Amino acid sequence: SGAHLIRTGILTVSDSCFQGLATDHSGENIKRLLESGELFTTQVTVKDIVPDDFQEIKNKLCVWSDNLKLDVILTTGGTGFSHRDVTPEATKSVLEREAIGMVVAMLTSSLGITPLAMLSRPCCGTRGHTLIINLPGSAKGSEECLRVVSKAIHHAVDLLR
Ligand code: MTE
Repeated sequence: SGAHLIRTGILTVSDSCFQGLATDHSGENIKRLLESGELFTTQVTVKDIVPDDFQEIKNKLCVWSDNLKLDVILTTGGTGFSHRDVTPEATKSVLEREAIGMVVAMLTSSLGITPLAMLSRPCCGTRGHTLIINLPGSAKGSEECLRVVSKAIHHAVDLLR
């Protein structure tokens, strides 16, 4: 019920951040936004960085949903057209049900901001009681998309419990 605190995980998918060659601006920005309480009431339970590797992404999503039983997992990065971008494929492989409405909401809103939004291939859906959402990799794009889906997070989590 709505009385329970929403537990969220933030997974940054990036080869360069994983190798320490770049700073995780998007993951840190998402964490800051969530902790501000401006979007929805939540606790950031875990935050991690994995490389753009199908199996690494898949393993982390499974552990966070099946073992940690998070309410929400937000991934950032790896949704584009680069050959290393496999976040949507790894996500799809662990989902039990896809949530196309969340994808449509993000892309519809994003296309009004930049035509480059068409280059993001996000996948969203549920595994057990966990809602998994792919956000693009830039701090700007991930924040814009998070703001859109955040409007339905409380209700989504209530329905999944
Ligand atoms: N969506 C929003 N709302 N705002 C943006 O600036 N950038 C786009 C797109 N989606 C963007 C966006 C760009 S430039 C790319 S390449 C894709 O997201 C994929 O980004 P990713 O590969 O880092 O996930």
